[in-house]
Amino acid sequence: MRLLQNLLSPASPGAGGLTVLLLLLDLITPAATVKHENFKTCSQSGFCRRNRAFADDAIAAGDKWSSPYEVKEDTIALQNGVLTAEILKTVPGLQEKVVLPLTIKFHKTGAVRVTIDELKRQKGEIELKGQSKARKERYHETERWALVPDWDIRDEKVVYDNRKGQITLKFGPESKYKAIVTANPFSVKFERDGETHIVFNDRGLMNVEHWRPQPPAPEEGKEKSPEDLDGGWDETFGGNTDTKPRGPEAIALDITFPGYEHVYGIPSHATSLSLKTTKGGDGAYSEPYRLYNADVFEYIVDSPMTLYGSIPFMQAHRKGSSVGVLWLNAAETWVDVVKEKPKKILPIGGKSEDTKTHWISESGLLDVWVFLGPDPATLYTSYGALTGYTKMPPSFAIAYHQCRWNYVSQEDVKDVNKKFDKHDIPYDVIWLDIEYTDGKRYFTFDPLTFPDPMSMMKNADKTERKVVLIIDPHIKNTENYDIVDELKSKDLAVKDKDGNIYEGWCWPGSSHWVDAFNPAAFEWWNSLFTFDRFKGTTKNTFIWNDMNEPSVFNGPETTMPKDNIHFDNWEHRDVHNLNGMTFMNATHQALEARQDSKGRTQRSFVLTRAFFAGAQRLGAMWTGDNEAKWEHLQAAFPMLLSQGVAGFPFSGADVGGFFGNPSKELLTRWYQSGIWYPFFRAHAHIDAKRREPYIAGDPYTRIIREAVRLRYALLPAWYTAFHRASQDGMPILRPNFVVHPDDEEGFALDDQAYLGDTGILVKPVVSEGVETVDIHLGDNEVYYDYWTYKIYQGKGLKNYPAPLDQMPVLMRGGHIIPRRDRHRRSSGLMKYDPFTLVVVLNDKGNAEGHLYHDDGESFDYQKGHYIHRKFTFDSATKSLSSTDLHQDPPTAEAYNKVVKSLLVEKILIVGVSKAIKASVLAKSKNKATILEDGKYRKASMVYTPAQDNTFGDTLLIRNPKVRIANDWTVYLDKKDAGGAVKDEL
Ligand SMILES: *[C@@H]1O[C@H](CO)[C@@H](O)[C@H](O)[C@H]1NC(C)=O
Repeated sequence: MRLLQNLLSPASPGAGGLTVLLLLLDLITPAATVKHENFKTCSQSGFCRRNRAFADDAIAAGDKWSSPYEVKEDTIALQNGVLTAEILKTVPGLQEKVVLPLTIKFHKTGAVRVTIDELKRQKGEIELKGQSKARKERYHETERWALVPDWDIRDEKVVYDNRKGQITLKFGPESKYKAIVTANPFSVKFERDGETHIVFNDRGLMNVEHWRPQPPAPEEGKEKSPEDLDGGWDETFGGNTDTKPRGPEAIALDITFPGYEHVYGIPSHATSLSLKTTKGGDGAYSEPYRLYNADVFEYIVDSPMTLYGSIPFMQAHRKGSSVGVLWLNAAETWVDVVKEKPKKILPIGGKSEDTKTHWISESGLLDVWVFLGPDPATLYTSYGALTGYTKMPPSFAIAYHQCRWNYVSQEDVKDVNKKFDKHDIPYDVIWLDIEYTDGKRYFTFDPLTFPDPMSMMKNADKTERKVVLIIDPHIKNTENYDIVDELKSKDLAVKDKDGNIYEGWCWPGSSHWVDAFNPAAFEWWNSLFTFDRFKGTTKNTFIWNDMNEPSVFNGPETTMPKDNIHFDNWEHRDVHNLNGMTFMNATHQALEARQDSKGRTQRSFVLTRAFFAGAQRLGAMWTGDNEAKWEHLQAAFPMLLSQGVAGFPFSGADVGGFFGNPSKELLTRWYQSGIWYPFFRAHAHIDAKRREPYIAGDPYTRIIREAVRLRYALLPAWYTAFHRASQDGMPILRPNFVVHPDDEEGFALDDQAYLGDTGILVKPVVSEGVETVDIHLGDNEVYYDYWTYKIYQGKGLKNYPAPLDQMPVLMRGGHIIPRRDRHRRSSGLMKYDPFTLVVVLNDKGNAEGHLYHDDGESFDYQKGHYIHRKFTFDSATKSLSSTDLHQDPPTAEAYNKVVKSLLVEKILIVGVSKAIKASVLAKSKNKATILEDGKYRKASMVYTPAQDNTFGDTLLIRNPKVRIANDWTVYLDKKDAGGAVKDEL
């Protein structure tokens, strides 16, 4: 978030008048969108410009081009599943070749890692410019933060064959994957099922800018040395000069996906799910996708411009195959995407195009992971085995969050709380933005407006509600503030290039930044959040980390200078995209370390704005400062789908739009869309009018209430989807191509999605004045309208009525949806509520579904204290049964006793005539037969015929009272229940 007034307010000493003036000039823009000129284009970023030019030259030279990289064959060795070799780079005019150590590692899951380093820099045999204290090696610690601690599980059964300059490595499950390394010029081809799926340096665009001393300036009239790279030494942008103590050091590689027309991922960009071309082709974009975490407020939509977070994971998908790459580099990165007709014969199922990508990073190792699929689910599982799966959040975190900048006082908070109850709208969390603090000093409350935060926390807790407080990484540089004193005395702040504590501007004015790369900073951060130390916080207080790109108002591109120095003398340049995640990690650990008076801990909830691959292990993200405009509502769904593909599904966009004032229609449509965001929060700028959902009045408030209630009813399904994501990386909100991987018409679809495994298909209305939408069905299965059970069937587009009070929601046949239908004020108050199971039969009369449930707050689930059920409706026995999916049932016994009273109150079967005839139902006298704990009993059934054959008929089983934690079977026809039943009933 951003506001001019805040910069005008308490100006601290230390910043020169000129800086302030420049800042103001910079920010006084009534214009509604981001100032492009504050952010670099590729041509304004030296290393991107150089590498794009290098690519242009290579491509223009065509067959005459030869990549100057060659594997020195006598250095090749394979040991314990790791191939090592030296790559030699030929440099024109240089006798000596540059030595680049290569390693190829094979992971148990079939993933492969290719890493290229630089020998001179490994050995520290280079000179830095000036007095710099920066490290001499290429940055190689991205894995420490991005990958799970136990990522290095080798496949040691790699089979290796080296002949005629070609090294073939067989690996992966049943050794059916192949990596073929060509020595000269260096390239790697990855094969699966006898087809090539991924090629490195296919186009010869690989480039490793080796270290060299800065050549002297050329004499008058002489050409400059070819070693004197354009923009390689120091670079000035927007009045800030980057001193580049190590000179040019970029790395680049082209990665081709032959026969793949669609690539997804590399969030965050306000763009379509299926990535567009950035060079030539249809001319969609002319700039590469950029990954450089930045505070790009009021961002424009449909753009490859960088945003707040970066995940350099890309998936390529075609009918019959999904593969991916992780570019493990946290420096500024640009990615060009080109689609071309292939010259060669197409692979089976291959479409008419190859996708060719070109990755360029400013510094660090060339370090790429390859995943060979073969399908989306397997791909996500193997990617998650490296970067981790979604953290299981506390259950309140997936309910509704109410935020604005700002709820101005504790009375205001209590008033909002009361009004939600008065209007019967459930919510779980109220949020406090920066104004709650005492003059932007984090870990304090403003004594005038929040004199007694404890009473506010307790008031929220009465209805099981939570309070989230913002805590940012910039620490106010001021007198009499213990936090900044400790930051300085413990030496835990980021340094400038000269090794002095770095000072810049943010909300508090002059500030310093916590260096969360320092292990000692973690320890200190932990100590700040204890209930003793952070007075006014309680068990129901959680944290929001904003501005952690980091945002620095007077820094280059609104962030930190790249030559700033972090812990262990790494330059900010190397770690920029990791910065936000390390800070989020520290906050996450601090929240998990908090103990109540009985020594109990609980799950954390942290929302972050900046992120990198792996941040899914820590909490949630949102898409930053969007606008109250229809196009921003449209942009949100594709962005969130992209987050899911890239392994970080716990994501949301500000409901209502952060900047500006949405019309009542837009606000209502945004809620109808927002209830499908994995992270569901409304937020508004300080200048925006109040827009809590009760303000609009009916019919808007009524429609919003219905929408929010639907989210609450489906919380068991959401929680189950989160659980799956936490186990195997399957996205929570799934795009069409994930659910129907062979439906080519749906590969680019990003305005509709499925909720987990529930078969619920939604297509939110994101345009003004719309009365109907077209929903694409990815298969020929039967789909039912969520409310009316109207049938939609047949692959392709189906028209669906969508006036303002109707949300387009379908249920795909073959699924069972767990719900809780009683209206409560918060999810915490639903704890003991009974469940409803909606059984949606498929064309064959069968259905299956899952439920995961635990206490929603403690870590006991890790000890087995959870319920995990599988529900199956079988048309042969006309019965619904519940079976156990628990991994270790004895460990669940204690918990099962706690949840003994949790029952199923309703079973609703949709499309019932697919499994059983109404006449048979009549014979059973509208009684279902239930078998539970070895005993039979009955429950009444109500059959509702369809009004005509364009609707599904339903059967409601009332109060079966089966236990949610138990095994049981409900038979529709007594005859199927077995011989014993006649005697007992
Ligand atoms: C947090 O950072 C620590 C390093 O201090 C690392 O070991 C740990 O894996 C990170 N935690 C998560 C959940 O990413």
